[in-house]
Amino acid sequence: MKPTQLVIALTKGRILDEVLPLFEQANIIPAEDISKSRKLIFDTSLPNVKLMVIRGSDVPTYVEFGSADMGVVGKDLLLEHGSEEFYEPLDLKLAECRLMTAEPVNAKEVSGRLKVATKFTNIAKKYFAEQGQQIELIKLNGALELAPSMGLADAIVDIVDTGKTLTANGLEPRELIAHVSSRVIVNKASMKIKNSIIRDVLGKLRAAVENS
Ligand code: PRP
Repeated sequence: MKPTQLVIALTKGRILDEVLPLFEQANIIPAEDISKSRKLIFDTSLPNVKLMVIRGSDVPTYVEFGSADMGVVGKDLLLEHGSEEFYEPLDLKLAECRLMTAEPVNAKEVSGRLKVATKFTNIAKKYFAEQGQQIELIKLNGALELAPSMGLADAIVDIVDTGKTLTANGLEPRELIAHVSSRVIVNKASMKIKNSIIRDVLGKLRAAVENS
């Protein structure tokens, strides 16, 4: 990739619907309608900037290895991935929610190891270790809220937004692990080699965040 060409990896799904209008305000507009295309990489209104649209959990990987220079991804996935390999210069303040522990309403104290179901296994491991609590981790990929009522786990670690999913499944939020929002990350080598274009794009995005 030429030093003047910039690839930005965006998280597909609901977050994209919030992120694209912000990019539009920053005058970075996809050349075609992303939602109507099967393509995964798109030209934009800026001739030297391309947008990739991939799963959020893959954004840190692409940016870490420099296949994408920049990325937009939730803080939850950054914490789960570990973020030694990139900078995190900007909070887009979009898709805001909380990463929390949750347990059945009125759950009794568990004797012995707490069984915790989550897809955020690294975050859960670190959090409970810091609390000095021994746990048994159960990795799930979705519908975590079902695990306690089905007897699979005592607690879950998951994203909470309105709290409606917890309530609908007889759970209540307990401890806050982290505030989550969409962040911009930048590959460390790209920041040096492509400094001018990255600073330009970051400046445009920062102005869009401040005006929104
Ligand atoms: C997240 C999370 C909860 C839900 C919480 O799932 O896993 O299930 O949102 O939102 P609420 O507090 O407003 O009810 P999401 O729909 O993002 O999909 P996921 O299952 O892929 O995580």
